[in-house]
Amino acid sequence: KVVAVIMVGGPTKGTRFRPLSFNTPKPLIPLAGQPMIHHPISACKKISNLAQIFLIGFYDEREFALYVSSISNELKIPVRYLKEDRPHGSAGALYYFRDRIMEEKPSHVFLLNCDVCCSFPLQGILDAHRRYGGIGTMLVIKVSAEAASQFGELIADPDTKELLHYTEKPETFVSDLINCGVYVFTSDIFKAIEEVYSQIRDTSSNYQSATRSVPADFVRLDQDILSPLAGKKQLYTYENKDFWEQIKTPGKSLKCSSLYLSQFRQTSPHLLASGDGTNRKPMIIGDVYIHPSVKLHPTAKIGPNVSISANVRVGPGVRLINCIILDDVEIKDNAVVINSIIGWKSSIGRWSRVQASGDYSERLGITILGEAVTVEDEVAVIGSIVLQNKTLNVSVQEDIIL
Ligand code: GDD
Repeated sequence: KVVAVIMVGGPTKGTRFRPLSFNTPKPLIPLAGQPMIHHPISACKKISNLAQIFLIGFYDEREFALYVSSISNELKIPVRYLKEDRPHGSAGALYYFRDRIMEEKPSHVFLLNCDVCCSFPLQGILDAHRRYGGIGTMLVIKVSAEAASQFGELIADPDTKELLHYTEKPETFVSDLINCGVYVFTSDIFKAIEEVYSQIRDTSSNYQSATRSVPADFVRLDQDILSPLAGKKQLYTYENKDFWEQIKTPGKSLKCSSLYLSQFRQTSPHLLASGDGTNRKPMIIGDVYIHPSVKLHPTAKIGPNVSISANVRVGPGVRLINCIILDDVEIKDNAVVINSIIGWKSSIGRWSRVQASGDYSERLGITILGEAVTVEDEVAVIGSIVLQNKTLNVSVQEDIIL
């Protein structure tokens, strides 16, 4: 038997995701029409002998209750939300719930960050781990040298794949091979975390003051576990050859939505919309997800990379390109939305334009409307972020509307 744990963090962690994370926890924000954590959860479902999935975080239980019960029913696998009273760090949180996680005596525990987007080759990681031995195997990927410094950089033995050296977000370049935030461990991971705790408790060792700038009961997987265990024949790497992105900003979520939509072409083509503008169906271009409850005017033109959530109404002549439209939005006649995310219950007026450059790396490269924003008729909102409940009756450009 194996179990999977997804680290979902908590409300203090998702602040870069504002204004979308004001009322919805970041892990539940839809990408390609499904909550962010739905993608790793469906990947877990494909592992043979998976007994349970745990979500560990410090959000209120009520925030996850609905999702957890509906996904458990859908997948026929128990998915449980376990709430920490406060953050314990990525390894501390795992350790905090060790008895629950090990209840059914699984041989292996998968550990996944909630905010990464990839095809989650979990069975491949597990099979590789069984060949390598040791405590754990982590998914790694090569990125550009400039991008690497935002992640854990590592050196692996090219033949044995052993993790030889690991540095979390180093100031000087170590390697362009980075940690993807997806791991499999044996139960020995708990012994390794226990050891860190006992070093911290051992006041004579100076461990706490010398190497740590975090509270004494806070244990980070990367700095406190991976770094010291590197080069000891305990940790191994599995190289990801498929897509991978980290999802720290709303702009990145638009990119990841497109990656998941194009993955649907292979894995779930039935989720993608089609239509050529005839037979009272709108013209669909490229990869588009449309929830079945959406009311779409047949003269609208949609795609590529568009996902439209439940109960959205799209009027005649509307044009949507590279955007995420969240639940209960209304887009009125001849409005245009490009490179944008439109928050729940927002309304876009007739002949209005909501757009941006589409450069994900720029702060205002994506226009984001928070929940219940009203854009009145004939208003242009360009490269801007608009907080919830605002009404815009004049055009704005490269602005943050508080
Ligand atoms: N439950 C819980 N409690 N979750 C936590 C806590 C905690 O105290 N702290 C972090 N997390 C969750 C986050 O929500 C995220 O899913 C994951 O643990 C890792 O978060 P961080 O520890 O903040 O690290 P990071 O995301 O900046 O970087 C990590 O992931 C990168 C890949 O995306 C590192 O492991 C990097 O090396 C790695 O490249």
